[in-house]
Amino acid sequence: MSRALVKSDSTATEEMLTQDLLRQSLKSCQTPGETNFEASAPHVFVIMGASGDLAKKKIYPSVWWLYRDRLIPENTMFVGFARSDLTMKEIRDKCQPYMEVKEAEQERYEQFWELNCYVRGSNDTQRDFELLNQKITEVGTDRANRIFHLAIPPSLFVIVTSNIKKFCMATKSGWTRIIIEKPFGRDSESSSKLSNHLGSLFKEEELYRIDHYLGKEMVQNIIPLRFGNQIFEPTWNRDNIASVFISFKEPFGTHGRGGYFDEFGIIRDVMQNHLLQILCLVAMEKPCSTAADDIRDEKVKVLKSMDELMLDDVVLGQYVGDPEGEGDAKDGYLDDPTVSQGSATPTYALAVTKINNERWDGVPFILGCGKAVDERTVEVRIQHRDVDGDLFHGQTKRNELVIRIQPDRAIYYETYGTSYKGAKLPLAYERLILDVFCGSQMHFVRSDELAEAWRVFTPLLHKIQNEKPKPIPYKYGSRGPEEAYKKLAENDFKYSGSDKWSKPSHEVCM
Ligand code: NDP
Ligand code: BG6
Repeated sequence: MSRALVKSDSTATEEMLTQDLLRQSLKSCQTPGETNFEASAPHVFVIMGASGDLAKKKIYPSVWWLYRDRLIPENTMFVGFARSDLTMKEIRDKCQPYMEVKEAEQERYEQFWELNCYVRGSNDTQRDFELLNQKITEVGTDRANRIFHLAIPPSLFVIVTSNIKKFCMATKSGWTRIIIEKPFGRDSESSSKLSNHLGSLFKEEELYRIDHYLGKEMVQNIIPLRFGNQIFEPTWNRDNIASVFISFKEPFGTHGRGGYFDEFGIIRDVMQNHLLQILCLVAMEKPCSTAADDIRDEKVKVLKSMDELMLDDVVLGQYVGDPEGEGDAKDGYLDDPTVSQGSATPTYALAVTKINNERWDGVPFILGCGKAVDERTVEVRIQHRDVDGDLFHGQTKRNELVIRIQPDRAIYYETYGTSYKGAKLPLAYERLILDVFCGSQMHFVRSDELAEAWRVFTPLLHKIQNEKPKPIPYKYGSRGPEEAYKKLAENDFKYSGSDKWSKPSHEVCM
């Protein structure tokens, strides 16, 4: 479990570095009932789809940083697998721009690549998986624990996991863990089919469904913030909170990912997973312990208390080019050649959800996400009810607690700029991959959580698919459709102009 953000945590010193933060996560994995890695056992980390975008941008860099900082066992070997005819040198060259190697780390960096090898093979050929298994055994012995990170398109999940199960499982005392990337299906039915397939091959403890937002520093801090101090929890309820707005904004469009995006849309890409996970952490009841399943049980209860969404609950938008904009901003979503002509896929969505339980009855939880809007931010805004007997005749801003997840991490009254000055914080993937080594599933999505998340969104997604409501056009670089702001106002969220965060003049250390 991540350390608390609050200052009472004695380890939150200015000098804290990535290694310290991750070592803490490592230590905190060691809750009773959870498996820790045995440093002496060999480990083999297998990257399926080693030639791809995610592998070079996130996975190779993350495992390198973990190795560099000696957070994973020294005797870990790394095996890449894909169809492309590549040498290790070519993979290394592709990864190079993302590895952030300092001069002093050069020797360690060379050692890292010496632990890597590549197997060329096809995803549906028995012989290639037998060869992969041979390679894993050769580099890791037959005692090795095995982690397979599936950095491949979802269409390959079924065949690849079947082949891993048939030909590549750990033998003897070793364990096997499978990391799966989103999207986990595209609606309730396809997700349940995938879950059933995975469930027929692996135990839930062997499956690590990645939602990389759960690895983000500030997302991991929501639980300690709420339950690790007395300030917030007494007012964290319908009596004091008017509305909650969880928003994701990106200032760029689909960026050559139009083919994938057009099939999925912003609701499946961001809202149903990243934003809903944050909602669960903000809304859940106190778990009876910090064990992964106790936390996930509470998250599932939140989802079970939510109604399915209807078309009336959402505002949908799609960006259009700004003729006066620069570069990419001139192009609208439909100008992307990989997007189908006249596509009605939303690139912006705002949805009003409700949680029907004693704590939250009547409080709108609003989820908003948009591509090609005016800024890059992800944040949670918790607005408190207006004070009775207002002395200031509505002239004051509404009380709002802001948890800023990115780009700068902050909780108003406390800034990370202060607490972690000079520290490079570990990236989401780095934390999550380390969790897999440790066997900690707290920050991964359990199958029942996934089923509930799809239940909330599937009817809406089917309606959008069948009725194709025309998304409201909004200009590239604007704040999104005005209708979204009307919907916020209708739902007791008082938008107070610019929502840009600036370092407050009075920092209150909590
Ligand atoms: P890529 O499209 O880059 O694919 C990864 C590798 O899979 C390719 O290098 C290719 O290797 C192989 N591959 C691709 N298409 C096929 C095919 N039709 N049949 C067989 N093999 C194929 O994907 P990403 O790396 O972008 O994404 C991997 C996973 O991670 C996906 O599930 C994605 O949704 C998820 N993800 C990606 C993010 C990103 O930033 N890229 C962010 C979040 C999640 P080869 O041809 O050599 O076999
Ligand atoms: C991914 C989405 O899951 O998250 C992308 O597929 C999105 O569309 C990305 O850009 C955002 O992640 P981050 O970590 O950059 O906020």
